[in-house]
Amino acid sequence: MNNIDDLINEAREAVNAADNITALEQLRITFLGKKGKISLLMQQLKNIAPAEKAAFGAKVNRARQLISEFITTRKTELEAAELNARLTRETLDITLPGRGYHLGTLHPITQTIIRITEYFSRLGFSVAEGPELEDQYYNFEALNIPEHHPARAMHDTFYIDPATVLRTHTSPVQIRVMESSRPPIAIICPGKVYRCDSDQTHSPMFHQTEALYIAEKVSFADLKTFLSRFLKYFFDRKDLRLRFRPSYFPFTEPSAEVDIEWGHNEDGSVKWLEVLGCGMVHPNVLRQVNIDTEKYSGFALGLGVERFAMLRYGIKDLRQFFDNNLDFLQQFI
Ligand code: DAH
Repeated sequence: MNNIDDLINEAREAVNAADNITALEQLRITFLGKKGKISLLMQQLKNIAPAEKAAFGAKVNRARQLISEFITTRKTELEAAELNARLTRETLDITLPGRGYHLGTLHPITQTIIRITEYFSRLGFSVAEGPELEDQYYNFEALNIPEHHPARAMHDTFYIDPATVLRTHTSPVQIRVMESSRPPIAIICPGKVYRCDSDQTHSPMFHQTEALYIAEKVSFADLKTFLSRFLKYFFDRKDLRLRFRPSYFPFTEPSAEVDIEWGHNEDGSVKWLEVLGCGMVHPNVLRQVNIDTEKYSGFALGLGVERFAMLRYGIKDLRQFFDNNLDFLQQFI
């Protein structure tokens, strides 16, 4: 009888010490299995004196029941502990800040083109585009730059074949539009242009924006007013001063280069920066596309988008626009 109490105690301790389900199952087999300790006790029943058999049997059954309860209780505990461990392991800390993600930004050149074209669009200009692979006729000839004209040499042209070039400016779009529409014409033509040139301020591919306005009685005064308003808007300075310097372009007459006031030189004098070329469309150009020069006149202008972007954002090296360094690009939100 004492053996049975010892067995119960042994089982209680072993079961409480079991720290996982597999060990517990092993104990179940040891105590309650077919060849387990309880079964062995039952086999002793035959050796027990008849008078004590019933009590012995009852005690063994009680022991089986107790041990079974120990195991069930411990199993519940172990399962709960396992579940808690898993919950802790798999906990999501929803108070942690998110990893975040980078929003794309428009390239500063794209933003500059948008800023320019938006201004012109509001004034009724429509956006026109032309091919980057251009007939030399449109790039030069029709713009009053004949074959042996020295102005051709100014353009460092990439020739694809004798009749085809990578356009060196956006001016050929003027011709294409004037060929296919009649005045009044008001267009703005942004796009890529190419020249065989590369350094801190020149890239073999860069962007220009051309504007063309052809109507009745357009004068140089219109061009001046127009440009003055545009440049003040673009550089966001109502008091921006500009200066028209006589210049030469084969496709405009008269022609001018426009400088804007941009700080001061070391000696205190005003620093002027050239920002664009412009002029009244040359009658030869209008005649080339059968526009009546008695009735119509117009102005044109061409500007370098990179230059505008560099001035607006204070960028010194034009090549930064094309390095695609994300740290640089993400500043322009
Ligand atoms: N096409 C010229 C260039 O690339 C820029 C230019 C100057 C365009 C005067 C014009 C203009 O329309 O009137 O250098």
